[in-house]
Amino acid sequence: MPIHYHENTRTFHLFNASVSYIFTILENGTPGSLYYGARLTDKDDYSELLEMKRRANAPCTYEGNLLFSLEHLKQEYPLYGHGDLRYPACSMRRENGSHIFEFRYISHVIYSGKHGINGLPAIWCSTTDEMESLEVELEDANSGTRLTLYYTICSDLPVIARHTRITQAGASAVTIERVMSCNVDLIDDAWEMVQLNGAWSRERHVTTMPLRPGIQSVYSMRGHSSAQFNPFLALKRKECTETQGECMGFTLLYSGSFLAGVEVDNYHVSRVQIGIHPDCFEWTLQQGESFETPEAVYVYSEDGLNGMSQAFHTLFNRHLVRGKYRMKERPILINNWEATYFDFDEEKIVRIAETAAQAGIELFVLDDGWFGNRNDDHRGLGDWYVNLQKLPHGISGLSQRIHSLGMQFGLWIEPEMVNRDSNLYRTHPEWVMVDPDYVPCHGRNQYVLDFSRKEVVDYIFKCLDQVLDGADVNYIKWDMNRTMSEVYSRSHSSLQQGRVMHEYILGVYDLYERLIQKYPDILFESCASGGGRFDAGMLYYAPQAWTSDNSDAVERLKIQYGTSYVYPPSCMGAHVSAVPNHQVFRNTPFNTRANTAFYGAFGYELDLSKLTEDELEQVRQQVTFMKKYRSVFQYGTFYRLSSPFESNETVWMSVSQDQKTAIVGYYRVLNEVNVGYRRIRLKGLNPDEQYRISMDGRWIEGRELMKAGLVTSDYTSGENGEIYNGSNGDFISRLYVLEA
Ligand code: GLA
Repeated sequence: MPIHYHENTRTFHLFNASVSYIFTILENGTPGSLYYGARLTDKDDYSELLEMKRRANAPCTYEGNLLFSLEHLKQEYPLYGHGDLRYPACSMRRENGSHIFEFRYISHVIYSGKHGINGLPAIWCSTTDEMESLEVELEDANSGTRLTLYYTICSDLPVIARHTRITQAGASAVTIERVMSCNVDLIDDAWEMVQLNGAWSRERHVTTMPLRPGIQSVYSMRGHSSAQFNPFLALKRKECTETQGECMGFTLLYSGSFLAGVEVDNYHVSRVQIGIHPDCFEWTLQQGESFETPEAVYVYSEDGLNGMSQAFHTLFNRHLVRGKYRMKERPILINNWEATYFDFDEEKIVRIAETAAQAGIELFVLDDGWFGNRNDDHRGLGDWYVNLQKLPHGISGLSQRIHSLGMQFGLWIEPEMVNRDSNLYRTHPEWVMVDPDYVPCHGRNQYVLDFSRKEVVDYIFKCLDQVLDGADVNYIKWDMNRTMSEVYSRSHSSLQQGRVMHEYILGVYDLYERLIQKYPDILFESCASGGGRFDAGMLYYAPQAWTSDNSDAVERLKIQYGTSYVYPPSCMGAHVSAVPNHQVFRNTPFNTRANTAFYGAFGYELDLSKLTEDELEQVRQQVTFMKKYRSVFQYGTFYRLSSPFESNETVWMSVSQDQKTAIVGYYRVLNEVNVGYRRIRLKGLNPDEQYRISMDGRWIEGRELMKAGLVTSDYTSGENGEIYNGSNGDFISRLYVLEA
């Protein structure tokens, strides 16, 4: 049983082979945190970890007792009032205007398995022995408000999931102003915070800095999880590296505005919180109503950041992604966006698809421009019926032609948006999320449909259902190309406006769920101007995401490296595109573009009919190679060995689950002259196994490859007589396939 309750000390211990999470019910009845970290031996009493120090000026709970102060106790789920003056996990307002609540323990329940969360993504288990759950029920006797803290621990992963529910059982209303999914108070601040930040086309770059007193946080107020900051943070010890040392990662299964941060107080306690962004959020509960937060996931690792990432990858692959594509190899696709943009017709599309089919590509994806009057990005969004001038036989006709080539067929949609120049906008201008008293911003000439309104979601579902019904569509790329800037719903009262941003996301999840239920065989890929909604919440609905609009191989090293901190290669859309690259105008070798994209949901995004015969032959070889090793690339254990943020050379590798096959990706951005010797110490191999190295056919023992390293030195460049041969200049890459 991984969750123990010690009755006499009222202590909860969640543990498995690698992690322990311990909290207790304090003498005032509120839950206090004792420990989170590597596994401890279970025992009855951990009260030595409950440090109470007499401190000047502290607000104290009991008359005559100068020790018990919530300002100085580590807490499970702190609220305002009663002495804790750090940021609360939750802030609520009673009808009398008071923000003071005190939630005391009333009961708990422990059970095998895990429940889902209504309307929200959640990790799940297929058998009840994979997870165990705890629900702790607390009550504010004064208002009758209930607070439920939910915990789940995985049996064989260093993972704890948490979320919170508030229920108003009392007669008067309460208004929630802030409700984090979780809170954890760590006893020290000797950590560095790792975050993933960026912008369009440079998503999820890694930034690391030491904690300092005060609040440090990442957030989105954009209505989507965003390219700017990912809903994730990790804390690592200074000495923790990619391959060794202690760290913990926190992420949120949520695709809307979020806040994730650490508050370091003046006694070096670090308070980690993650949840829905509280600004502009407000949710009133009448008697009998409740509010449930999104789920947060904690991962603990003593094996460095790779250990943390591998636990996230396994968790998401096995216990987050659902449906037909869970743990399944992803089809190799070709997408026409960078090949044609809006300028295509059926014949052009079929020509690209024919060449792709000959090369062994498995799925053709028709991107933006197939519907309404969508000949550029000023018009047509919202009009989800086929443009018969471009596609005279409709989507089903085109789909049939693609299928007759032996390929699957996929379609781009952007269901949450509308252009002013569209029939939908002309019919329903009130469905747009704007404050009618002001001129709203557009983003890429488009406006956000108010998905907090059920009738809007119903209408879009009906339109998409009409397109999909009978059309044999196997894949959908669901895009979302603008940030929300005027969050206001004309269907909500003044007191309900604080719900809109969250209800919008619930509407998005609802539409996904309805489409998944009706079309369970469709593979969804999420997208938001590239990687602007790449979050764990989305993976519950869409098993893969378009990682970035930037498909330049050099830029992708950083983007995919950072993305892999949390998300597995199986879900990272990665395409080979044309040169000069359409985002950075860089020329990289064809094989480097493929060698980078192999470590993901692989595909092409270029006009194959413009390739030379030699390049087409390379495409055929790449596709054959990917099919052979796809399971290793997408589901192998992924190790980051050398960082593009710190080095001219990026190295990563994937090792098959049985350790029989490993593929090392080696990438060098700029060539260097007359450099030293280079070896890369590999990870995750079987030390006693002999591996054949594809580069030179040599057999080398796993132990040697991990201890002495794989030799990656090459000829010294720039010497007399050496000539450029296309694979020894800038932007070169090599794949070393190791087979036992
Ligand atoms: C976004 C996506 C691209 C493409 C275009 C189409 O920018 O990220 O991949 O689908 O929209 O308009």
